[in-house]
Amino acid sequence: SWCLGAALVLFCGSSWPQVRSALAPENEVPLRPTTWLPEGKLTSITLPKGRTRLYFTLKKKAPAMSVTVSPCDSPIEWGLAARTLKDKPLKSLQSTKKSTPEVWWQGPGTEEKIHSRTSNTVDTYRGPSYPHASIYILRLRSKQQNTRATVYLHEGLGPSGIFPLLPADPRVHTLGVGMTSVTLSWAPSASITSLPQTQKSYEYCVLINSQKNYQSLCGAQEDTRKEKEQKHEKKERKRRVTVWPILKEWWWQQWDTYPEPQSPTSSLTAESTGLQCVCQGTESVCTISELLPDTQYYFDVFLIDIVNRTSMAYKGTFARTHEEAQPAITTLREGELRWVTFPDRHFSSEQFFSFRPRGWQHSGLLTLQSCSGDEKVKVTVSSKGHVLTSQAVGGDLVHIWLQGNPSYLIHLEREATATDQLSAANDPGLPGGLMASVKMQTSSAYHRKGVPSLPSTLQIKSFNRLRGCNSVTLAWMGTEERSLYCVYSRKLGIYEDEAGGVAALTAPCLGPESRSDTERVLCKYFQELNPQRAVTTAVIGGLEPGMAYVFDVYLMRRWGLPIKYASKMVKTRKEC
Ligand SMILES: *[C@@H]1O[C@H](CO)[C@@H](O)[C@H](O)[C@H]1NC(C)=O
Repeated sequence: SWCLGAALVLFCGSSWPQVRSALAPENEVPLRPTTWLPEGKLTSITLPKGRTRLYFTLKKKAPAMSVTVSPCDSPIEWGLAARTLKDKPLKSLQSTKKSTPEVWWQGPGTEEKIHSRTSNTVDTYRGPSYPHASIYILRLRSKQQNTRATVYLHEGLGPSGIFPLLPADPRVHTLGVGMTSVTLSWAPSASITSLPQTQKSYEYCVLINSQKNYQSLCGAQEDTRKEKEQKHEKKERKRRVTVWPILKEWWWQQWDTYPEPQSPTSSLTAESTGLQCVCQGTESVCTISELLPDTQYYFDVFLIDIVNRTSMAYKGTFARTHEEAQPAITTLREGELRWVTFPDRHFSSEQFFSFRPRGWQHSGLLTLQSCSGDEKVKVTVSSKGHVLTSQAVGGDLVHIWLQGNPSYLIHLEREATATDQLSAANDPGLPGGLMASVKMQTSSAYHRKGVPSLPSTLQIKSFNRLRGCNSVTLAWMGTEERSLYCVYSRKLGIYEDEAGGVAALTAPCLGPESRSDTERVLCKYFQELNPQRAVTTAVIGGLEPGMAYVFDVYLMRRWGLPIKYASKMVKTRKEC
């Protein structure tokens, strides 16, 4: 238990420093925890606010040393000094076998400062050993808070190799930024490039978050832990369970495979915090996707030594993802009739409209009709990002009832057909030609609960018995709603008559708005509550004998496009 309670430094289990036998024989127990820094061993220490001392000695023959201090989440001020005692340490030790080492190293002597530095990233001092030094003292101080650090002592010239190597340029670069993705690249580490591909002792990890760049993996882990604790506290306070979306949890589970040396309890499994991690293996290019548009993100790359459980941080970067592309949206006015054309035949094209029905019921009617035969046009109506309906628009009127939303987004999309692409490939010099076009109308519908009733059939009947030289009698089906019906007539020329057939008939898209007033022969109101019996008739007079006429009936409405009945061709009698 003193292991945990130690005021200065935590040294547990196997990490108990191996005090040099020459200085502290095995049977000697220090009076208070003496903190020896072992050579060639990664030592994790907890730094309370204030000063902490670690001691070490070097082998007599060691020509040089290197001391590495790796702070966790706050800057550390650290210094190295060599202490030379007046008494010969070995002699003094041998004569006072039962005393604590401190007794003699705090005795009279001289102290020489070797190095002093404040650092918030991995920092190494490399230098020659001091032949007269009795002992070396490493002083550490955390100015801000309780923190942790990892310390490593290496005897000898060259680098210890315990920490992975960063390249000369350790910056992370952004190669590309999109709406939901960012591509990063960084110079590869010699630790990875010098190894055969098969040896998986190192890997890069990319950390993404929306707060800041991290200078160490430990710092990131620390923040995750704190956030987790806060969340837990909040949860306790609220006394109800909140379900947090678990993002990339698999990765955080991987953290467990890199526990901090000597502190297995600090393993981390983060639920979705602001931090997301992607392990990249040994590739030095990484595309992060599923990001939010128009959001700032911070990216850090860590190089991890899987064997030694050490890591080095590249110099992180940040980027803001692009905004979502806003399509041009045309606002539709109340009752407005609009022709929508798609001039570019060669590619699929689209157009956006918005409509706000008047009145508190927010209801309205959207009617559409395609006016170009076999061109495929699709309409999709959505509100607040939810698709309400999506359907094909053809020659028949499409009625879409809008209800309950203050505004609607209408998306018309012309789908490129296979023949289009063929003709585009074969005959690029023919622009336009057939344009897809759609007739569209929107109107608010007050005090209504649904789509207006439609006639059961749009056929017009003419009665042969009632056909005269100057007049014909037409009949068509109405609806149970009181509506206005208008009849238009057009006399066919001799050639048109002879050509006959479909060509002579009125195009389905030709509405009353595009017909001459002189063609209008009659308008009448009609209503029949029983839809089966809703037949209405009209006698059209003033015709010439022996001539062919095309008759059109339109069901006019206060709102919505007029409904056109199928054109009917009738010939007046030649002789009466
Ligand atoms: C681990 O540390 C040792 C030195 O203690 C070093 O030689 C080695 O390269 C390091 N990394 C791996 C992956 O072995």
